[in-house]
Amino acid sequence: MSLEGKTVIVTGGNSGIGEAIVRAAAGAGANIVIDYVAHPDETAQLIEDVADAGGHAVGIQADVTRLDDLKAMVRKAVDTFGDLDVLVNNAGTETRHSLLETTEDDYDTVMAVDLKSAFFGSQADAQYFIDARREGLIINVSSVHEERPMPGNTAYCVAKGGMRMLARTAGVELADKGVRMINVGPGAVATPINRSTMDDPAKLEALENAIPLGRMADAEEIGDLVAMLAGSAAAYLTATTVYADGGLMQAGGGL
Ligand code: BGC
Repeated sequence: MSLEGKTVIVTGGNSGIGEAIVRAAAGAGANIVIDYVAHPDETAQLIEDVADAGGHAVGIQADVTRLDDLKAMVRKAVDTFGDLDVLVNNAGTETRHSLLETTEDDYDTVMAVDLKSAFFGSQADAQYFIDARREGLIINVSSVHEERPMPGNTAYCVAKGGMRMLARTAGVELADKGVRMINVGPGAVATPINRSTMDDPAKLEALENAIPLGRMADAEEIGDLVAMLAGSAAAYLTATTVYADGGLMQAGGGL
């Protein structure tokens, strides 16, 4: 599978699943724009790693909850690499609070980082693809929890449920304009967002017991999947979700 010559933006691209997507897509030949908000040193190191492996990546410090910043990402891609092919809306956060525990700040943060960013990032990129009269692809890193309830993580589930309908609705709206939208729905992945579970043996065991494959995913397994979906093998996919969850969606239990 080759992404040779394609330009890919990855939001939240300097850690966790985002970092794995950057490494996988760059390894497949894509030019990468890494969006980040914090950790400039780690981002610089990632850009260096990509270059050492023969790839091309640049960083942009941009806040995905702001429309101007989302538009600046598109400009950065076009100014640096001449065009844009794929947006990966990967940035995300969660508070692990139930409905009764969720503050207004929790809610606003989760909705802005997880859902507003994907909504308006998609709008900015789709508009670019249409204006440039070219086909384009938007991949949203969603979650099994766009469909499966996760009691105790309510705002996150509501945001991911919104991403589910974003892909289905906007995917249909944009199809005849040559713009596709695919959600990826990971289950539990060994990344910083799950640190509190990984550091607690009892919680980790409960999680692994709930996953039919019996383990969390490595970030690389999701990164490789997103790189595959960005390529021609997935050209007939739109307005849908590809789950990569070790079977968690189909299993019982409360996770
Ligand atoms: C959440 C994790 C959770 C996992 C599996 C992910 O979307 O971010 O907190 O462990 O789903 O339930």
